[in-house]
Amino acid sequence: MSIGETITRKRKALGMTQKELAEKLSVSFQAVSKWETDASHPDVELLTALAEVLGTTVDALVGYRSPILADYEERYQTSEYYWGIEPNRLCYDILRLRPPVKPYKVLDIGCGEGKDAVFLARNGYRVSAIDIAENGLEKGRILAERCSTRVDFFKADISDYRLTEKYDIILSSGVFHFLRPDIREEVTDNLKKYTNDGGLHALNVFVSKPYLKRSGEKKGNRYEWKSGELFTYYHDWHMHRIDEELFDCNSGGIPHQHCMDIMVAEKKVK
Ligand SMILES: C[S@@+](CC[C@H](N)C(=O)[O-])C[C@H]1O[C@@H](n2cnc3c(N)ncnc32)[C@H](O)[C@@H]1O
Repeated sequence: MSIGETITRKRKALGMTQKELAEKLSVSFQAVSKWETDASHPDVELLTALAEVLGTTVDALVGYRSPILADYEERYQTSEYYWGIEPNRLCYDILRLRPPVKPYKVLDIGCGEGKDAVFLARNGYRVSAIDIAENGLEKGRILAERCSTRVDFFKADISDYRLTEKYDIILSSGVFHFLRPDIREEVTDNLKKYTNDGGLHALNVFVSKPYLKRSGEKKGNRYEWKSGELFTYYHDWHMHRIDEELFDCNSGGIPHQHCMDIMVAEKKVK
């Protein structure tokens, strides 16, 4: 899709006229009209404001898909569920430690096709779930509908999405290795700050091991963590579970192993 087509689609979805969009950006409506027919393109300095007004990102406007996004979108293309529909064990930790005696607010970060988010919603939690892959989110919505439950699925990138409202439980499985090392502390601080007292974080992360092949390397924007690193960010929380697990994987058709640090931590009541 061209940039002009994207602008038109997003503008119309917001019920905005060309004139209204032009006013918000302090440009003429003829300029907007030219962008939309691809007769000209918005200036680079305008792109951030344009993306913001249209409720999207500059990447989406210019049609850029990161290799990670392309990879997951491809995996989620079929009607089958790439990760299956069985919930992760972390969901059972959540059920055990915070049974849904009230509708606890949960955020699933990097929810994929939504199996964990839907499982928790079916069990009475009030669940929101984010991912960068729109087709994964759409499959999550379908799964939720099939299970007669509701999850608020929305597109967001953990690298630049910051919480502004509080949750009781944060779940993330198989995602934190997409966080660059230089922003890990800031991201975890934000997640911790926007968790209610007594709330839980149920997380896992791939860690490097010297005996595992290609361990520790940066693999196409995947950044393994150091063993134990995740736990250090939670030194001031109560640990319910700290594990390190080695497991077999066959993704890409080549048998190999991964190591994961797994943690369930509780924010202490002040
Ligand atoms: C290994 S899958 C795990 C999916 C799900 N948590 C599960 O266990 O079934 C990793 C997911 O992280 C998502 N992802 C990758 N980078 C992301 C980012 N920067 N922000 C949000 N999600 C991201 C991918 O689209 C993918 O769905």
